[in-house]
Amino acid sequence: MATILGIETSCDETAAAVVDDGHRVRSNVVASQIELHRKYGGVVPEIASRAHIERLDGVVREALDQATCRPDQIDCIAVTHRPGLVGSLLIGVTAAKTLSWVWGKPLVAVDHVLAHACSPAIGLDQPPWPAVALIVSGGHTSLYHVRSFGSIERLGATTDDAGGEAFDKVAAVLNLPYPGGPQIDRLARRGDPRAVDFPRTLLGPTSLDFSFSGIKTAVLYHVHGQGKTSGGLERWSEQDLADIAASFQAAVVDVLVIKTLRAVRRTGVRTVTLGGGVAANSALRQTMSARCRDEDLVFFAADMEYCMDNAAMVAALGYHLYERGEIASLDLEASAS
Ligand code: KG4
Ligand code: ZN
Repeated sequence: MATILGIETSCDETAAAVVDDGHRVRSNVVASQIELHRKYGGVVPEIASRAHIERLDGVVREALDQATCRPDQIDCIAVTHRPGLVGSLLIGVTAAKTLSWVWGKPLVAVDHVLAHACSPAIGLDQPPWPAVALIVSGGHTSLYHVRSFGSIERLGATTDDAGGEAFDKVAAVLNLPYPGGPQIDRLARRGDPRAVDFPRTLLGPTSLDFSFSGIKTAVLYHVHGQGKTSGGLERWSEQDLADIAASFQAAVVDVLVIKTLRAVRRTGVRTVTLGGGVAANSALRQTMSARCRDEDLVFFAADMEYCMDNAAMVAALGYHLYERGEIASLDLEASAS
């Protein structure tokens, strides 16, 4: 048995969690900064770093308290060290190194995207691997072939805007508040996904990479008029806007499902997993689940509380690194990419 304290500060959530054996979550505390960034329409890195400094100590205490866990009962500290906002990562990494030194506990360094990839395994007694893992977040859209926690091969990734970034930018075009993904999800429920035929960019018949900048521009021009970037929003009714949101979302979901099924055929695996902030999207969860059922594939989506950034997924993957002896030194550095 091993108890891991996870720390996550890669973007705008300050998070800490206590997880046993990589899948039993004893606490999962997230202090969201959405309110601090909303008036700027996106994450302001300096504000994010400052908020992490102010909040992290209390968030770590809260995670330990909720788990009724003393520092001497922790076996290891796992921290996100890449990728993300470097000023934000630095706060978590510095805190984790300090606690590691003061408490005399080993440190492990966790890749944020791989933590999202492993998040669907949380709560399962048996890991879902081998699987094709789709991760769609604000910064990344990636497909992995996960053979085990120690063998993860990247099959494809975004070539421009990430899936979540496209949701946030389209939401801004529709004048919806940040973060836009959940707003589009909500608006789209009242819309017709077949109302507008937005492009599905597949980058050729075999590619497993993603491109969402074209659809973002297509929505922009659809709303304002060809070649225009402003002035057109007022001519659309509430129902038109819901139809645009639903049609955009359907196009993104189609591309994500098509590429995931391509990866399934390429690898021969029979299981699909879904993680990352956009994995919270109701249309993506429903459509992927239905298509997997049609294809006789097993499907696991991360639980809603482990889709958006959290430290439980960091502790969960950290456990497997710890078990393999992949201990980081106190020279550990934060890295943006
Ligand atoms: O994984 P995450 O919390 O942070 C990063 O690692 O980037 O993902 C945040 C992204 C944002 O772009 C947000 O708009 C999107 O996830 N998101 C959603 C939904 N909930 C969050 N996108 C679509 N539908 C949702 N329900
Ligand atoms: Zn994330």
